[in-house]
Amino acid sequence: MKSNKNQPGVPWSGRGSRYSPSDIEFIVQAIRDSDPLTQGRYQNEFEDAFRAYTETSHAFAVSSCTAALHLAAILSGVGEGDEVIMPAHTFAASAIPFARTGARLVWADIDPATLVVSADTIAPLITPATKVVVVVHLYGLMADMDPIMALAESHELLVVEDAAQALGANYKGRQAGSIGDFGCFSFHSHKNISTLGEGGMLTVKDAALARQAPGLRHNGMRAYKGEREHYWKPAMSNVDFDRPNLWPFNYCIGEVQCAAGITQIHKVDELNAFRQSRAKTFMRAVSDFPELVFQATPVDHENVFYCLPARYLGTDANRDRDDFMARMSLHHKVQMVIQYHPLYRYPMFKSAGFGEANCPETDVFFDQMVSFPFHPWMPQDQFDFMIDATRETLSELRQ
Ligand SMILES: Cc1ncc(COP(=O)(O)O)c(C=O)c1O
Repeated sequence: MKSNKNQPGVPWSGRGSRYSPSDIEFIVQAIRDSDPLTQGRYQNEFEDAFRAYTETSHAFAVSSCTAALHLAAILSGVGEGDEVIMPAHTFAASAIPFARTGARLVWADIDPATLVVSADTIAPLITPATKVVVVVHLYGLMADMDPIMALAESHELLVVEDAAQALGANYKGRQAGSIGDFGCFSFHSHKNISTLGEGGMLTVKDAALARQAPGLRHNGMRAYKGEREHYWKPAMSNVDFDRPNLWPFNYCIGEVQCAAGITQIHKVDELNAFRQSRAKTFMRAVSDFPELVFQATPVDHENVFYCLPARYLGTDANRDRDDFMARMSLHHKVQMVIQYHPLYRYPMFKSAGFGEANCPETDVFFDQMVSFPFHPWMPQDQFDFMIDATRETLSELRQ
């Protein structure tokens, strides 16, 4: 491989998808004609399409996955005196909405091969105070849900699937977000599909809990019950609690964003297939370097490769992850990143009293992990270059 002098390298991108001309036309039409600009027909259509795609019963479009997680936390009834088990190897938003309720966060370790929690890592943490388990389907791979659901059932725990990174991921023929009591999805800029930069979806299994979601999403607003003599009296709409003293929020998403979501949900399989094909090409191209270990995708799972993380094991004690990243960055200008500082090491969680954990696999993976730039619109020549750069770097580090 030649020197890097004139090649532009491969930047990390904060954007996970692009809109086609016909997507943009549809979105612009929504800018022109939506009335109202929030909570209208585009939201209904997006929710219907999302429900059909994920094979869930109730779906509510919201302003972010963080909002969806907060609604799931509120609807689960968790609060002071309760414990919530979740991984520390995840983005902070998996945890913050649950901490906000006053519940105690209990950190579960990851499985070293799949990098997500398992029934084995959750089970020892269950106490009489445990109320909820948050399962994060990280990097596009679902956790092994059957044993987790069996464990949850035997201890009467609610399960929240944080599927922010896993729209379209599949486990034994079932969609991410369709197995637990709640599914939370993100349409943030970096995700496999985006609703113009921010957005989310909450899916709810229980019909009675689902009925509480629209009011919680929108300041407790609802239609008046029954016939009114004049449509304007006593006012345009009513406001009430869906559960006594459970104060609502405004977590609504706009119509133009929902229009963007409609364009994407109909082609999410196609978008994910491209990611899968690139991930497979990349992993195959470096498969003769066993010191680079990718996230394992067990049989019966379909990974949608939100990211392409790997573990660099080094070939001797003098070569570590930082040597790998330094050479990729300085010599080839490939901008790799490290994802997910264990949450218990952050000042926020430490100062809130959640700084303790027994998660050796999380700690080890943090020291070994790298994440390759993996936006699907990366030009083919850059993608090929990244393969060559990776191969050269791995060979170089063997010297
Ligand atoms: C695992 C995980 N959970 C939750 C979130 C929060 O999503 P949002 O940015 O839509 O609030 C993210 C996204 O960034 C995430 O990756």
